[in-house]
Amino acid sequence: MRTVVAVTNVKGGVGKTTSAVYLAGAVVRSGRGPVLLVDADPQASSAEWLERSPIAGVRLIEAPTARLVARAMDAGKEQLVVVDSPPGDEKTVRAVLERADSVVIPTRVGGPEPSRVRATLEMLAPGTRRGIVVCAARTGTRDLEETIEGWEAEGESIWGVVPERVAIAAGADAALSVVGLVHYENVLIHALDHRGRRRRVPVTGS
Ligand SMILES: Nc1ncnc2c1ncn2[C@@H]1O[C@H](COP(=O)(O)OP(=O)(O)O)[C@@H](O)[C@H]1O
Ligand SMILES: [Mg+2]
Repeated sequence: MRTVVAVTNVKGGVGKTTSAVYLAGAVVRSGRGPVLLVDADPQASSAEWLERSPIAGVRLIEAPTARLVARAMDAGKEQLVVVDSPPGDEKTVRAVLERADSVVIPTRVGGPEPSRVRATLEMLAPGTRRGIVVCAARTGTRDLEETIEGWEAEGESIWGVVPERVAIAAGADAALSVVGLVHYENVLIHALDHRGRRRRVPVTGS
């Protein structure tokens, strides 16, 4: 059965594309590949990244509208699909979230971030499996601790805290950083955690 992991936040510049590409890389690196990476952002940042630095085992489809993304998420035979979402376009974001088994919400520490995460959470159907990933984090800082504690107090799960790294910021200009891949493999494990439970549900049809 196919599992769709959506990487979504209504805000731009939080780490969606970085998270989506690293999650796809982590799928392959951990032997769970091949993986389909759907780029639903008209800015095509994931698509450009993969064009410049292809990752073996990761197939990319550009699908920058609600209609295209719905089709792309069903395309092909890969068991795992990662979707990079646009920051604005609510219609496309909703089309992504409707089909997602699991939603990764990248965010940053501080400023207007919590309100954008809340706006994203409000778009999810109740009970949707989701977790927050704090991107480009400065480990050991009070601000980071407060961010993590704040989300946990609201009942949200933190699926990862990815440290700020030059090698990650390099994007397509460098190979995927091993530190980044290790962190995102942990995020992936959280994102896929529901599959054991789902398998126990009786399956009808093929
Ligand atoms: N762990 C990290 N360390 C350093 N820079 C990061 C990290 N994660 C993301 N970034 C940088 O943050 C910026 C925004 O990330 P991006 O993935 O493009 O966000 P979005 O897709 O949400 O707009 C990019 O310059 C990216 O390289
Ligand atoms: Mg992006």
